Amino acid sequence: MRIVVLTGAGISAESGVPTFRDSDGLWEGHRVEDVATPEAYEAQPSVVQAFYDARRSALADVVPNPAHHALAKLEEHLGDDLLLVTQNIDDLHERAGSTRLVHMHGELNSALCAACRRRTAWVEGLSDYPPCPACGSCELRPDVVWFGEIPYRMQEIEDALAEADLFVSIGTSGAVYPAAGFVQVARAYGAHTLELNLVPSEGRSMFHEARHGMAGQIVPAWVDEQLLR
Ligand code: APR
Repeated sequence: MRIVVLTGAGISAESGVPTFRDSDGLWEGHRVEDVATPEAYEAQPSVVQAFYDARRSALADVVPNPAHHALAKLEEHLGDDLLLVTQNIDDLHERAGSTRLVHMHGELNSALCAACRRRTAWVEGLSDYPPCPACGSCELRPDVVWFGEIPYRMQEIEDALAEADLFVSIGTSGAVYPAAGFVQVARAYGAHTLELNLVPSEGRSMFHEARHGMAGQIVPAWVDEQLLR
């Protein structure tokens, strides 16, 4: 059984990482467009850098929850037959033990050099514009895919969707493409599709099946079923 799992902010909510669209459309008090577009960064680089510096340092205060741990356990069981694709930029999946993991929207713990495009593992702040370890230029920005930019590793994701027997979407509102369209791609290639979310998402009608509730409860329950198969 080949499975592709897509996760969104909802899987980290019970760890204390706020989602994007649940609180009046604000992300930590900011409109997403004001901190997550290349135009916002160009207009107010210090605001954007400070915002992501705060998100990066906040990772120290959160830990993976039972949903992250359950997906790591599923990888132990399925090995290469599982691909975990996350829209999240936190590091909770890897801290739970997942390794077959694609961060399609980038990572807080990574810096992208605007000059040489090299991606470098990064845990400190970027507000003081440290030099890029690769080229020395002081143009490091958050390695986060902003609106209007192209998500990472799309070919690999598409190939996995084409081969999947089951596609599972967890904790995502289905508001942002291309991730919101993965369910249709997987279906077109013949996969069964399942939504696990707190409430029916915008894309609910595209899934064959849905279960609604807290990720920390419904994800471990679903994984336990897979382990018995
Ligand atoms: N358990 C399960 N689902 C939950 C929980 C929970 N405890 N709490 C919230 N949810 C659900 C919400 O009901 C919502 O449908 O998680 C979803 C979160 O949706 P968004 O906040 O829109 O987050 P996401 O879908 O990951 O956003 C996609 O948008 O802002 C951009 O690039 C950013 O990756 C992000 C993308």
